[in-house]
Amino acid sequence: MVKIIATKDYEEMSLRVAELIAVEIRGHHDPVIGLATGSTPVGAYRKLIEWYEKGELDFSRVTTVNLDEYKGLDGSNDQSYRDFMHHNLFDHVNIDKTFTYVPDGTEEDPEAACLSYDRIIEETGGIDLQLLGMGHNGHIAFNEPSDHFSRGTTCVALAESTIEANKRFFASADEVPRYAYTMGIGSIMAARKIVIAVSGADKAETVKKAFFGPVTPRVPASILQFHPDCTLVADADALSLL
Ligand code: F6R
Repeated sequence: MVKIIATKDYEEMSLRVAELIAVEIRGHHDPVIGLATGSTPVGAYRKLIEWYEKGELDFSRVTTVNLDEYKGLDGSNDQSYRDFMHHNLFDHVNIDKTFTYVPDGTEEDPEAACLSYDRIIEETGGIDLQLLGMGHNGHIAFNEPSDHFSRGTTCVALAESTIEANKRFFASADEVPRYAYTMGIGSIMAARKIVIAVSGADKAETVKKAFFGPVTPRVPASILQFHPDCTLVADADALSLL
């Protein structure tokens, strides 16, 4: 059963997500935190930075593994997820960047890129808490609706709807990369805890399908119903159809 934390708005959702991450960071000697990009986690990252600045949170022993990266983008490209993480979190806290992992978008050989990221995840000793957002089609990381659940890291062709949703970050839809490296559903499900954050009325229908409908790779987030410790933190708009 997925636990649900219902919040009144995006601000409160961000606070609750940040609290769950902070508890995890404080509770482990060497915490391994899985992170997401996109609009949803930005508010939670802001909170974490605020607590770091107040001296309430220490990132010096934290290892992070990100969910995904566009294939073909270098970490210094301002549309890369590596750059997003630096900008929205890593540059503002005392994390050792050597221990912040994002799939290597510059690796042209998909097999090498995927094997190497699986090895990295394994060598961290496993993810203590994985933060997720959810796409309008129910995707988690870049695992798009499909006829099966992926196991490890894969190279995926982005769905047209995802390209459409992400074009806001690029000069035009043509510039959105067509492929991405993404952590597999199997690796996400292996995280000891999962926190999925969802905000906005435009995702209400998908929230209903993913958490109250049948478990199916057609709605990738629905697999989270089978995770032993998954918490959905969602605002009133996202929960409005329940
Ligand atoms: C990002 C990621 C994606 C996003 C999802 C929601 O690393 O893996 O699955 O979480 O596309 O994006 P936003 O939060 O922008 O609505």
